[in-house]
Amino acid sequence: MPGGTFSLKESDNIQGDILAPFKKRHFAFLLIKYQFDPANNKPGRDWIGQMVKEFISTTWDVVKAVRDNDTDGRLWTNLSFTAGGLIVVDKRFEQRLGELEAFREGGSSDRTLNKLNDRRGDLQSNSLLGDKGSEVMGVIKIAADDQKLLNNHIRALSQLAGSFGITLDDSVRSEGQTRPDPITGEEKAIESGFGFRDGISQPRIMGYHDDGILQPGEFILGYDSESGLSTSPDWMKDGSFMVLRKLEQNLDVWKPQLSHIVDECKNRLKLEINTDKAAAMLIGRTKDGELLTGHELERFAHVSKMTTENTGLSNRHRIIRRGVSYSEGGKVGLLFNAYMANIEEQFEYLQTVWANDKNAPPFQGADPVIGNVHEPFEVAVNQGRGCRMGLSKAVVTRGSLYTFVPSLTLLREIAR
Ligand code: HEM
Repeated sequence: MPGGTFSLKESDNIQGDILAPFKKRHFAFLLIKYQFDPANNKPGRDWIGQMVKEFISTTWDVVKAVRDNDTDGRLWTNLSFTAGGLIVVDKRFEQRLGELEAFREGGSSDRTLNKLNDRRGDLQSNSLLGDKGSEVMGVIKIAADDQKLLNNHIRALSQLAGSFGITLDDSVRSEGQTRPDPITGEEKAIESGFGFRDGISQPRIMGYHDDGILQPGEFILGYDSESGLSTSPDWMKDGSFMVLRKLEQNLDVWKPQLSHIVDECKNRLKLEINTDKAAAMLIGRTKDGELLTGHELERFAHVSKMTTENTGLSNRHRIIRRGVSYSEGGKVGLLFNAYMANIEEQFEYLQTVWANDKNAPPFQGADPVIGNVHEPFEVAVNQGRGCRMGLSKAVVTRGSLYTFVPSLTLLREIAR
């Protein structure tokens, strides 16, 4: 834990968005691809040096702008690398990545698809693929107030990258998916696919939030974690892992499913509900974000699943969520985007042990939103006292990428 009066809010070494969210309406995840010869990686290293000098936003940049009410018109930028990307710019990473299996293999490697129960055939070609040896070196996440500013920023970044033999693919975007908070009026992210407010429940982190209860080492490497003292190597200090997944939300499955639940509830449970209530039952919150309680909150609901064992000492499977919605060619979905210190114990644990497992008690069914179960499955409504309801998966994984968001110190060291 950070000692004395030092606060993680003041960090100019931790990149922005991990702790201090990029709160803007427009986002792009630029996929970094290189044309230079990896045997001569100087252009890659020089480019990183320029990115640090000119563009990267730190935690303190964001915190200070918010404090001073000076966020309008600002552009936020962070930079992360796939395992393959780190090795291309610095051969030392071949050894350094030894035990980091999930990251080393990548978000769309066979290892990861098998573990998460994703299907290769569902992945869009050229979308977020960041396996070792693939051409995606990393991601630049950018945020801006409007589309024009976003496009200008993409142009400036692409121009710089181009002069170092690097191209930026700007096809992964999110445009304006927010809604005013009913109480404060503040613009808040929504996942527009199913129409729910998103990003509400976030971990409270010691040294960053005044009411923090979780050790920072759960999210930022080099700090104590919930399981004890930090053991991570120096190069990782002040870095974090990022999971980016393009999750398509299939409304042709989701909507009829809600009507079906309404009918079933009326017939079998004699419950009067409408489709909004049925959706809230699956998520565990209302569309405006109110948490369901008591018998209304089912154990299989998405938020119940995602917090199953998160109490006291086992509070070790938390993630910082920064997801934003996308819409593309008539399809909608969520660019799920999360930060954590350990991909296996955090994102992969949530997805595999909690979301995908439909049998283990007390889960009462797979996660109705993200359970990666390819055949129809059942959930036990009303905490098992009611009836079992048949569901089908409405979210499809279209892309998946694991990256590391280095500290500014590490970026400068690579650039040397
Ligand atoms: C299209 C896919 C998804 C949709 C539509 C979705 C939607 C939501 C919504 C509406 C909430 C409640 C509001 C909030 O607290 O922000 C929520 C909470 C949450 N989701 Fe998701 N989500 C999706 C994917 C995922 C994935 C892939 C994970 C991780 C494996 C995840 C983990 C969580 C967690 C940890 C919470 C907070 C639980 C809590 O502390 O109450 N979600 N999600």
